[in-house]
Formats: sequence, C-alpha cells, structure tokens
Amino acid sequence: MTAAQRIAQLRTELEQHNHAYYVLDAPTIPDAEYDKLFRELQELEARHPELLTPDSPTQRVGGKVLDGFAAVRHAVPMLSIRTETDTESSGATNFDTRVRNALGTSGEIEYACELKFDGLAINLRYERGVLVQAATRGDGETGEDVTQNVRTIHCIPLHLKNCIAEVLEVRGEVYMSRRDFERYNEKQRSQGLATLVNPRNGAAGSIRQLDPALAAKRPLSFYAYGLGEVQGWNLPPTHSGILDALVQFGLPVCEDRQVVHGAEMLAAFHRSVAFRRDELPFDIDGVVYKVNSLALQKKLGFVSREPRWAVAHKFPAEEQLTIVRDIEVQVGRTGKLTPVAKLEPVFVGGTTVSNATLHNEGEIRRKDVHIGDTVIVRRAGDVIPEVVGVLLERRPADARPFVMPATCPVCGSHVVREEGEADARCTGGLFCAAQRKQAILHFAGRRAMDIEGLGDKLVDQLVDENIIHSLSDLYDKKVLNSRSLAALDRMAEKSAQNIVDALEKSKSTTLHRFLFALGIRHVGETTAKDLARHFGKLDAIMQASAEQLLTVHDVGPVVAQSIVAFFGEVHNREVVQQLRTLGVHWEEHEGASNETLPLSGKTFVLTGTLVTMSRDEAKSRLEALGAKVAGSVSKKTDCVVAGEEAGSKLIRAQELNVSIWNEAELIQQLKECEKT
Ligand code: IVH
Repeated sequence: MTAAQRIAQLRTELEQHNHAYYVLDAPTIPDAEYDKLFRELQELEARHPELLTPDSPTQRVGGKVLDGFAAVRHAVPMLSIRTETDTESSGATNFDTRVRNALGTSGEIEYACELKFDGLAINLRYERGVLVQAATRGDGETGEDVTQNVRTIHCIPLHLKNCIAEVLEVRGEVYMSRRDFERYNEKQRSQGLATLVNPRNGAAGSIRQLDPALAAKRPLSFYAYGLGEVQGWNLPPTHSGILDALVQFGLPVCEDRQVVHGAEMLAAFHRSVAFRRDELPFDIDGVVYKVNSLALQKKLGFVSREPRWAVAHKFPAEEQLTIVRDIEVQVGRTGKLTPVAKLEPVFVGGTTVSNATLHNEGEIRRKDVHIGDTVIVRRAGDVIPEVVGVLLERRPADARPFVMPATCPVCGSHVVREEGEADARCTGGLFCAAQRKQAILHFAGRRAMDIEGLGDKLVDQLVDENIIHSLSDLYDKKVLNSRSLAALDRMAEKSAQNIVDALEKSKSTTLHRFLFALGIRHVGETTAKDLARHFGKLDAIMQASAEQLLTVHDVGPVVAQSIVAFFGEVHNREVVQQLRTLGVHWEEHEGASNETLPLSGKTFVLTGTLVTMSRDEAKSRLEALGAKVAGSVSKKTDCVVAGEEAGSKLIRAQELNVSIWNEAELIQQLKECEKT
C-alpha cells in the first residue's frame, strides 16, 4: 500500500470513529486505539507534507492566530424568525391561524417541530462534500469567516458522506452542552482562571476567538436545522425530509423533533418540551415550528425579511438582567454565612425573583459582584436563583464591593473562615438564634446529653415562641418546668413531667458526652472522648492552646483551631458556666496525658527577654511538653529560663538553688523533647 492510500484509509477510518463518537454518541473503539491511528496519520502526513489537506482529521486543531475575521457575504441571506412569547396554546394557534389564512385553507397543516437551541447561528459551506468555509450570521447579509474555529468542533464533519451536491450550505446552531460548560468552568476555577457566564456566551465567545488553539479548548457542539445555498442536489419535498438527508450526510441533527398536524399538536409539543427543558443536555429558549412542505413554504414567502412559514415559540427566559441593590448575609442552621444579593425584582424562570444566592465570599470575588452592579440572574426549574455574572461595562461609579462582616448579623459573635474552607461561619454556636434549634437538638441527642422526648417539634416550639434562648435555659426551672411545658401545643401534663424528669436525669453525665453535646465544629464523639481522656478536666480543655490540643491523639490543626475559637467566645464560656451552675456535672480526673509527656510534672518560670521566640511561644511549647509554666519562683520551681536582662526572679532562683537555663539551653532542650 502506498503512503497516499494508507493516509486515505486512515482518514476514512478516523472520520467514521469521530462520527460514531461525537454525532451518534456511540463510540466504536477505545480512546487509546483512536489515538494510535491518529498518531500514525500525523506521522505519515509529516513525512509527506504534499499529501496534507485541510480536511484531514489532524487539521481540526492548530492553525495560526488570526488578526481578525474576514467578511463573508452569504449566498442566501441568513434570516431570523418571528417570535411568539405567549402561553403555549395561543402562541401555537396564532401561528397556525396566520399560516392557514395566508394559504386560504381550512384544512390541517403539517408542521415540523424542533427545539430552539440557545447558541450561535452558523453557516457551513460544503463544496463537493468538503467543508470549505464556516461563517457567522452577522447582519444576515454578511457574516465573519470562522472556519478555523469551526473545524475544532468535532461533531462537524470535515467531509460529508453520501452527498452528491456540488454546493451544500448547512445552517445550524453552535452550542455548548451543559456538561461541557460545567466541566470547562470547573477546570478553569481549579486553575484560578476566568469562568464562562453561561453556555451561550461560551459558544459565542469561543467561535469569535482569534486563537484557534484557545477555541479548541472550549468544547462546542453543533446541530443542523436548515439549508443555505444548494447546487446539484434535488431537495426532498419536506423540511423534515431535508433533516433526514442531513443525518445521512453525517451531520448532527437533534433527534428531539417531531412532525405534527394542526395547532393543538404544536401546543402539545411546546408543553412537552417545556416540561422536559431542565433535563435536556443543553440550553434551549423555546421551540420552532416550521411548515413542513417546501412547496407551501414557497407559497407563504416572507414578510419584512422573516419567513411566514416559521416561528419561534419561546419559553419564559431563565436568565434576566437586574440590579444588585444590596448584599446581605444569611446565617444557616450550622452557622454558615451565605451572602445573598438583594435584587431589583425581576421576572425570571416563571416567577418574580428578588433574592439570589451568591454562595460564598470566594464566589463573589470570582464573579466580581459589587453592590450597584447590573447582573445576570438565572432561575432554572426549581433551582434557587443565582447570580451568574456581572455586566462590568454597566458598573456605576458608586458601586461598592462586598465585605464579609466580622461579626454575625444575628448574634454578634465573631465570624471566622478557616483555612482552605470556602464558607465563613458564625462562632456564636449555642448563642446564635439562627443555630439554636440545631444546637439544642444536637445537645439533647442520644449520644450527647440524652434528653429523652426533646425532639424537633418541641424544639421548634421552644425556640419559635422565644422560650429558650440558650442551652442553659433547658435546665433553668424558671424557664422550663412542668407548668410551662404543659402550656405548649400538644403537650399533656404527663409528657411535660416526663420531659422534666428526662432533663433532671441528663444532668449527671460524662465529660466526653458534655463536650460532644456542645456541638463544637469538628469535635465528634471520638474526638470528644480523646480530649476527655487526655485532659481529664473541662477547664484544662477550655484553657488549652492550639499547640497543647495538637498533642492529643488525632487532633489536627483544624480541630485544635476550632476548639480554641469556640472557647474563645465569651458567650460559649458563659453557657458552659451556666450549665454547670444549674447542676450539669460529671466526674473529672487528672488526665492521662501528663505522666506520659517529657516535661510532665515540671514547673518552669520564664524571666527576662527571649531573643529568638516570644514568651508566649516558649510557654506554649513547654506546656505542650507537659510542663506547667508559673509566674513566680518558689521551692516548687524546677527550672527558671533566664533571658536577657533577667532581674529579681533570676536572683531568687540562684538563692533557692533552682536550675537555670539560658535561651540557648531552652532551645536545645525543647528540640530534644519535641523529638520524642
Ligand atoms: S430556523 C429562516 N431552527 O433562532 C429560518 N432557527 O431567528 C431560520 N435557532 O438565531 C432559522 N434553533 O440560530 C431555526 N431549530 C431551529 C433553531 C433556530 C435555534 C436560532 C437561529 C436564529 C434564531 C431564529
């Protein structure tokens, strides 16, 4: 076999696989096999550059960066169609009535129904079956030559099969599937790069990209829905027949189409598609009805550059423009803070929307949303409305960026955002009304304080009726007693007494149950047990530094930080104190940790100025090793660390014969101990 023959063979074979994969969505060979054939073709073409043609499958990617797009005059103008936005039945009847009146018939008309793809109209010009040019619609008369970029769309054949036409212009829509859109954005996000606002902009932006290598990275698809210039082919008598023929030529035509008769069936098609709209793999903005017979189409002709034989029957838009009046922060049940855009009310996706989620701070930065901006709001199906993008060119001079509040808007506690986390959280925990229900339910849970009978319904009432403000109210007899409980909805005296008894019983607990019950983020049952075993006493845990907490088995920086933050909040410490005062108790012990650490039982005193570390750091490192760090020197002191300009404490240590380390010795000892 000659190189030319092998090249031809490979091209045919690769095109068949391409068609199976991208058009029929039914791959015929594994990717690796395809890649092997592809490489063989690339190598052959490299060795025989004289055999390279622009319609080779290897020529889909690459090409030079363009300075601009050349103008293309359309052989047959690319027209647009009239739009109906009315309800499903009147939109369909209006069209059908106009058609029948114009034709002067009372009989039922045959229509081809299609989806109205939401992308960019493109004209593909095939000459003797080879793709020679692709152009945008432009003003309908003249478009732009986007052949290079269109070549990168895999489902568009570079060669037609079974096509005898001298010239065949195929018209259709370039679009980006929802899956490809999500994937592309996910990849961009993970690399910190700009994301696409919606699939439509993605498609339009890629086609008008001057660098074909960049265009190739954006996954696009195409559906054919009509024809432009045709030479040397006898058209079938119907529009649906044309689409069937295009399928035979290897072009992608959407299977979701139907031939129907009369207005009622048009309306039914509209209804059925509207119902399935969210499940479709791509965005559509309506359906298109076309008179099926080409003879009737010809009879009907055009009015003001729009065909009388076709109409777009739209759905309510899923995206609209509106203005962000403010950005408020909502506190969820778990303390998560969600920024919400307060919008100028807008009708979108079938309802009036005045709030849209902005998810989190990072998302606001990525989308660059300011207060005062004009934004695109999307509401698809039952999904919560969201802001998908900003029209930067419309940003007013007084637009303000969003600042995440430092304190919770509900309870005033500090707001934190842990490293590597997208969400900011309120540290108010038990104190925060927004989190109270959840906190109480968790507190009362079987593995926590085990308060029988304190379930959702009761907690809802207690919080909604403002009876309980804090966990400690549960044990406050002035707040909850058999009388106040019996006064609640659906609460008999007997069950009220049962709750009182259960509360009383729960007061006697264990340290780990109590710790777990507090609902500290990242402190599950096991961690609570580890902490209880290690420290033995609640006060020791409440006072522990992050470094000390890190010495506990399985406690990492995130958990340690969360514990420190929780007990750092005055409100949380107060609630704990109140619970103890009201009788919640457990047995405490010395803690298992101290004997096992290298400096356990040793008391240190720090004096003078340390040069290489702060006194706080020295203190926490010593404590992490089990030492106690005291403020004054006594007979019980084991060691005094004397920094520069140490004074009276150093003298006292010398008097009492306590061992003295300088800074260098401290560092040396810390290093040694920390190794073990
Ligand atoms: S037919 C002369 N069919 O909607 C009739 N158009 O104004 C030409 N569109 O931007 C259009 N899906 O790109 C037709 N199935 C479909 C369509 C469709 C989307 C777009 C088209 C144009 C607009 C119609």
